[in-house]
Amino acid sequence: MDIIKRVLENLTEEDIARYHDTPTPELKRCLLSYIKDTTRTDFIDEHWITVTSGSDEGITILMSMRPKRLVFFPPTYFWYYTFAENMNLHYEEFPLINDMRIPEVELRRDDMVFIPNPNNPTGHLFEEEELERIFKSGATVVVDEAYFEFSWISSIKYLKKYDNLIILRTFSKAFAFAGQRFGYAIAHPKWIEKMEKFKQPYNVGILTQMLVIESLKNRWLFYGRIKEIEMERERLKEALERLGFNVFPSYTNFLYFKTKNARGLVKELEKRGILVRELWNGIRVSIGKKFENDLFIKTLSELISRGEGVAE
Ligand SMILES: Cc1ncc(COP(=O)(O)O)c(C=O)c1O
Repeated sequence: MDIIKRVLENLTEEDIARYHDTPTPELKRCLLSYIKDTTRTDFIDEHWITVTSGSDEGITILMSMRPKRLVFFPPTYFWYYTFAENMNLHYEEFPLINDMRIPEVELRRDDMVFIPNPNNPTGHLFEEEELERIFKSGATVVVDEAYFEFSWISSIKYLKKYDNLIILRTFSKAFAFAGQRFGYAIAHPKWIEKMEKFKQPYNVGILTQMLVIESLKNRWLFYGRIKEIEMERERLKEALERLGFNVFPSYTNFLYFKTKNARGLVKELEKRGILVRELWNGIRVSIGKKFENDLFIKTLSELISRGEGVAE
């Protein structure tokens, strides 16, 4: 890709040898311009953002503040559990109800709540009212917008009203940057200051920062790719529905459907070289290239006709 070539051509030995601001002033400017362009927010300046090595680092930085109780609404991003368990943190879970809505829960000011929006693994978006109900509780609320670019819907505007809200973003999804590790957080400066105290000082390398700057300057290149993924996603969703599956509406780069014997089906698919995930008794499938999606549907329908999986 041209972006990678251009960055490597400009990278000097001196760049690599030195420590750099993390983020550099130029990266901050590019991120701010991107945030403003895509969410029409005018109250955010450089004090409202910090960068992380993937948004998983953002999650672990926040968890390392050791809140009294973590709150999750499953089905949710399964790494929240792993990180919490690794750090020996207390968490409670309240499953989504009535078609994946957030249940009424009594939250406390010393809770830290994690909500992916759009949600992983279902792919759906929460309603503004249900999110605002959580923001109003006074608990620290982390809205994990890893898939923002597939919905263009953000809770950023609530940052003006609620200083207990932290938004996490990543370049791993729409910007296809998972191997390079880059994420960022947007929050009231008091949270950004706190995150910066908890994180390693130079947590994002200069090459990553340069690649992100170049990607943001050429962001229109990625928009075409997002559109293609969305078109493929809707085609795959229809094909799955024709097989009888009830597929959740998705604002991400994957689809999720419930099925009896999800685990068995995933194993059978794996034997045939197709990797999908079994999560919360359902299957999450990432949107691949057209031929990969076609192969998935063909293999799945063969398995179903042999009685290996039953649509629910
Ligand atoms: C909801 C959610 N948050 C965070 C992440 C982690 O992304 P990153 O690669 O930026 O660490 C993922 C990745 O799958 C995700 O789905």
